[in-house]
Amino acid sequence: MAEPRHIPLIDIGRDPVEIAPDIDRACRDTGFFFVVGHDVPVELQQRLDTLAREFFALDDDEKAAIDMRRGGRAWRGWFPVGRELTSGVPDQKEGIYFGQERPPSDLPLHGPNLFPTRPTGLRDAVLEYIDAVTELGQRVLRAIAVALDLEADWFDEHLTHDPLVLFRIFHYPPLEQQDERWSVGEHTDYGLITILAQDASGGLEVRGPDGWIAAPPIANSFVVNLGDMLERMTGGRYKSTPHRVHNTSGADRLSFPLFLDPAWDAEVLPVPTIGRAREDGTTSGRWDGASVHEWSGTYGDYVLTKVGRVFPDLRDEVL
Ligand code: OGA
Ligand code: NI
Repeated sequence: MAEPRHIPLIDIGRDPVEIAPDIDRACRDTGFFFVVGHDVPVELQQRLDTLAREFFALDDDEKAAIDMRRGGRAWRGWFPVGRELTSGVPDQKEGIYFGQERPPSDLPLHGPNLFPTRPTGLRDAVLEYIDAVTELGQRVLRAIAVALDLEADWFDEHLTHDPLVLFRIFHYPPLEQQDERWSVGEHTDYGLITILAQDASGGLEVRGPDGWIAAPPIANSFVVNLGDMLERMTGGRYKSTPHRVHNTSGADRLSFPLFLDPAWDAEVLPVPTIGRAREDGTTSGRWDGASVHEWSGTYGDYVLTKVGRVFPDLRDEVL
């Protein structure tokens, strides 16, 4: 009988060469791993969690002062429960979309963030957190580069010198066990890697080769998962794995995903070592038969199509 699958834990504080074999295995197997040994301050994580809970506890009317409709093409701000349709039906979650703090821009998904007037500390906490977790993500990408037999700074040189960084805070109200709606429906992520902090509620599930497996909360760890671009770049050797959330903990669940993605205008091509990677026979078809490999264009085109699909009304209004 097959071993029950689980998601491995990686100490990202160690030498990339030492952890590369474990990273390679995780990326080929489920495309998910936990990282510990990072230096994102616990104090910052806790501060952000507390402030986010204060924000979500406000009335919808007050939260609507930063409604995503006001963010326009920058695609930032708050949305209420039920407005995001990750897999074609409304997710049972509300959230705030952030990104790098930039001047107003004609480029979609670029520009200034929308911050609420209260709680007042949220702005600083979000910006500090984006910086700290982006740095952690760059470290993870160096280890992934080594796992792929590339120079450690390969991603930095080719795709992430000026990355697209998107950050979201989600609030998932509790659902009854028998509730058939999803907190977030099954999907894959779009870019390179997602680095997710989650509170102690649980409910995140990953589609493994033999069935759904839990990605349970582990104190002071981050969940890292690969997005469609890494699957594309590796000819399917590395997996962009479907995942979903059902919050039946009885409590409000918060999560904090940061998406570290290629530069907006990057063309995402197979990595130069992929011929070698394919020789060991690990390439396999993608879960949904979708063609991350056949598509061509810039990462900006790809992500824009994807985000428009999950907020169809907003897309028609602002994009
Ligand atoms: C996502 C995601 C999971 C979670 O935002 O892409 O999969 O636990 N989130 O919030
Ligand atoms: Ni996701």
